[in-house]
Amino acid sequence: MKPTTIQVELGDRSYPIRIGEAWIDGLGVALGEAGIGPSSLLVTDESVGPIWADRVAAGIRGGGLAVESIQIASGERAKSLESVRSILDFALERRCDRTTAIVALGGGVVGDVAGFAAAILLRGVPLVQVPTTLLAMVDASVGGKTGVNHPMGKNLIGAFKQPDLVAVDLAFLETLSEAEYRSGLAEVVKYGAIADARFFEFIEANAKALLQRKPEPLARAVARSCEIKAQVVAADELESGLRAILNFGHTFAHAFEATAGFGSIRHGEAVAMGMMAACRSSRPPVKSIDGWPP
Ligand code: GLY
Repeated sequence: MKPTTIQVELGDRSYPIRIGEAWIDGLGVALGEAGIGPSSLLVTDESVGPIWADRVAAGIRGGGLAVESIQIASGERAKSLESVRSILDFALERRCDRTTAIVALGGGVVGDVAGFAAAILLRGVPLVQVPTTLLAMVDASVGGKTGVNHPMGKNLIGAFKQPDLVAVDLAFLETLSEAEYRSGLAEVVKYGAIADARFFEFIEANAKALLQRKPEPLARAVARSCEIKAQVVAADELESGLRAILNFGHTFAHAFEATAGFGSIRHGEAVAMGMMAACRSSRPPVKSIDGWPP
């Protein structure tokens, strides 16, 4: 695919989403171009680390940056203050300073946990999101929502922390499980439903090719999703209005996740069911019931 860059326009905190295929070996050069360095902390998890961490760390070093790596547990249960604490301890023991960038390599959990650590470490250090799941590429890595869960509920502790760069390499999807990939497609469908009927039709027409991870439609789906998300975030960064549109299906989804037990079903699976439930419950009654609608 032809590499694409989408800008999230937030004034002097604007940042690029760089989308391409098999370019992550050049991450260090991209970091340098974005003015990030001279040191970094690569945060990943037990699932992604063994496959990708060494290669991504080498890519970062290739741009002349120093890099230290830490791995947290994987899965929703790792979205905790304990995980954040382990990153902070690791960073402080290595005498990081305010120029040390946290590079989050993984899915939504790693991005949220590492992003929150970047928001509070030394009152804020640079953040680079390197999403490895489809869901994180099209949603979690863009827009600055970071945080962890609390026994009282999901995402109850956190901060808005915009990244300095989002580095999307579609090659990561080659090692993604089928269930994780399909779960990410739910968020892609969401963008069609909330913002772009023609994109929705494109998804319908290319459903089979998307399920087969065909590079061309997949690249288009990721780029258009990121574009819509970038526009919504630029218009309403802190979710005082429009941004809530990104939560389509999520009220039901969070209820499904809580009922099933956090981590028992994937977030995207819950969103897929949540969007269907929201559509059904918001459909106007076909016939008047007790005089309603008037
Ligand atoms: N995932 C919804 C948002 O970023 O606002």
